[in-house]
Amino acid sequence: MKTSTAVLPPETKCTRCRGQATIPLPTHHANFCSECFLHFFRTAVSRAMERFGTDPETPLLVAVSGGKDSLALWDVLHTMGYTTTGIHVELGIDGFSEGSLDVVRRFARQRELPLIERSLKEAFGYSIQEIRVRTWRKICSVCGLLKRQMLNRLTVQNGFRVLVSGHNLDDEAGRLLGNILRNRTRYLEKLSPHLPSPHPRMPAKQKPLYRLESHEIRTYCRLRAIQPLEAKCPLSRGATSHTFKEALDFLEAKMPGTKRDFLFSHLDRSRDAIYSAPDTTCNRCGEPSFAEICSVCNLSEQLKAKDESAASAERNGSRKERRETTSEKTP
Ligand code: FES
Ligand code: ZN
Repeated sequence: MKTSTAVLPPETKCTRCRGQATIPLPTHHANFCSECFLHFFRTAVSRAMERFGTDPETPLLVAVSGGKDSLALWDVLHTMGYTTTGIHVELGIDGFSEGSLDVVRRFARQRELPLIERSLKEAFGYSIQEIRVRTWRKICSVCGLLKRQMLNRLTVQNGFRVLVSGHNLDDEAGRLLGNILRNRTRYLEKLSPHLPSPHPRMPAKQKPLYRLESHEIRTYCRLRAIQPLEAKCPLSRGATSHTFKEALDFLEAKMPGTKRDFLFSHLDRSRDAIYSAPDTTCNRCGEPSFAEICSVCNLSEQLKAKDESAASAERNGSRKERRETTSEKTP
């Protein structure tokens, strides 16, 4: 796992304790020893939790994929004394989902933490792999929609009011850049590390790692002996979100602190997040919705219609084939 950008000379002093520093953080104009780095990391998380107004007694449901961010998040919240339960949604992506589930199970077992497991196929009727061959839509955005909606619903169904996820500073800054370049003002208003619950059947959503960069999270995982899934989702290759993050990495390498300033100046400027309450309920599944049929039921109907038309084409094809065989045999 790649964790550090540079090796410090042995005489470098830790910015906090003046012991030997091993971890350079140019963005913060600081170098830390392992202990002080962990202190820095927990301070960033506790600042986020203070901003959200979340106290350690609030039960938190942690969305865990098996990647470094979600495991680091679960670990840091647990070690800071928060009451946490993990939730993993198995997506059914060949050669990827099995490994994710194994990693999450091992992590929870080693720390004796409660874990809820659900499968997309069971809950929705189709796995991501099955959806992919039935839709023309970009699979990453369909996957994002289903994960979001399923996690919202499962949070409430399991009696939690707060769902936390491992989105980090790079994710949020990349999303901000993408929305600005495409002039998606509606999404810009929603870009906040804390979205309060807008409806009794929708949880509050929080991103406690939003102050931490991807490489800082990798370093945390190394120091805490966390072994995340290294494989990337094979379906997300070429996703535009990666390109926006790469663009910011390029700027960050030339001007350390750019990413942080870019995101934080937006968050400081923006008013409280707008997370509007759905005004109706879906007339298929009864969940809060902005339209008569919610986006999940809408997608499910499209997929079923596709299956039905394929089945009827097959029926017609075999009927025609039978007729042709019969007429060939007729003298
Ligand atoms: Fe959803 Fe890859 S994790 S498409
Ligand atoms: Zn619905």
